Amino acid sequence: MTSSRAHRRSDSPDHLSTDTETASGRTDRQPPRSVHRPQFDEKSVVPGESPLSDRVEQSQPAPLSTAIPRKSTEFSTGAQPTGPAQPAAADDDLDVSRFVTPADRKRALAEDVRTGLTSSPKDLPPKWFYDARGGMLFDAITRLPEYYPTRTERGILATEAKAIIERSGADTLVELGSGSSEKTRLLLDALVAAAPAGARRRFVPVDVDESMLRSATAELRLDYPSIDIQAVVADFDRHLDQLPTGGRRLIAFLGGTIGNFPPTARVDFLRRLRAGMRPGDALLLGTDLVKDPGRLVAAYDDSAGVTAAFNRNVLSVVNAELGADFDPRAFAHVALWDAENRWIEMRLRSLRDQTVHVAALGLDVSFAAGEEMRTEISAKFTQDALAAEYAAAGLRLAEWWTDEAGDFALSLATPAPGSTTGAGPALHLGL
Ligand code: AVJ
Repeated sequence: MTSSRAHRRSDSPDHLSTDTETASGRTDRQPPRSVHRPQFDEKSVVPGESPLSDRVEQSQPAPLSTAIPRKSTEFSTGAQPTGPAQPAAADDDLDVSRFVTPADRKRALAEDVRTGLTSSPKDLPPKWFYDARGGMLFDAITRLPEYYPTRTERGILATEAKAIIERSGADTLVELGSGSSEKTRLLLDALVAAAPAGARRRFVPVDVDESMLRSATAELRLDYPSIDIQAVVADFDRHLDQLPTGGRRLIAFLGGTIGNFPPTARVDFLRRLRAGMRPGDALLLGTDLVKDPGRLVAAYDDSAGVTAAFNRNVLSVVNAELGADFDPRAFAHVALWDAENRWIEMRLRSLRDQTVHVAALGLDVSFAAGEEMRTEISAKFTQDALAAEYAAAGLRLAEWWTDEAGDFALSLATPAPGSTTGAGPALHLGL
């Protein structure tokens, strides 16, 4: 395990020269190391387990209104909550603020699908992989032998949680995209251990999935009686400026999810995060690192075909939510390493000429045989490149923790002295 203070130069990393806009105008549709599996048997996804479709049915949560009593605070879409929040039914005493409702999400999906399917080349944003089935498929991915990021990050946290909490000096942990908060327990344990006897600590999990957030909160509350849990139902990108303040905050964004943002959006995200940080706050960021392309591609094109099913699941989500008639079997999973941009890209390749109808949008979309639609980028980092992005966002790389092999990194970033928004230094990165 290495732990080293960052002291690198911050010259421009070459992979930042391309942004979303130029990337989506790409002409090279056949970069090296393209891998595809046109034939896929859904029932073989998780060997030894019942078919996923069955498992999903069995695990469908009951409707929120009956299954999970709530006391919540709801804010209208994207709006600044003015004055005290409106409490909803107080059947339990979980502290939940809501910035995004199912209707908001549906609208956002409709907009993304309309834009993405009428663009050339077509794309669908990766956030729409994650319905109940997509969440289960992602969980299955994290257990695959080829998919090292989750277990590697957990290993780093297990070794370094104490150092992370001590170095940050935090009394409040905010987690963006908290999900099941499973890895977070390592940080919460260290947070409690570092607290003086009798002192309370605070955890603010932020996630768009309210039912997941509620069940995670209910469980954590039992296990961490000295931690006040203030859950926030929000899109961590759109509602970044609404995060609860107060205390000395460690804002964690784990898993390497920042790699899903195209470079321009990524630095913009870091800048907005920085704008909301006060002196003493710190960011804990998980990033997957550049490595042998063979290992990277394998992590996104596993031999059991789970990632392929996950990729195709976005089509099922669009079918279910917007009444589209995608045949997921008519699309092949593609995972490739884009060496220039230093990201893994996932695509769905149409196996034949076909037209798809999206009822909720009154939209007909044609795909040519062989046409590819981008569904995800997952950027990989080096310490230098990340340090430069932090600097561009008005942050300073303060600590860097990796596993022994250097596969994945957790880094701590603090507001750069004298900077407020970091608007200036971005210029030399060409962003
Ligand atoms: C959850 C965004 C970190 O990019 O590695 C896993 C999603 N996609 N396999 C990633 C994912 C394909 C994952 N993140």
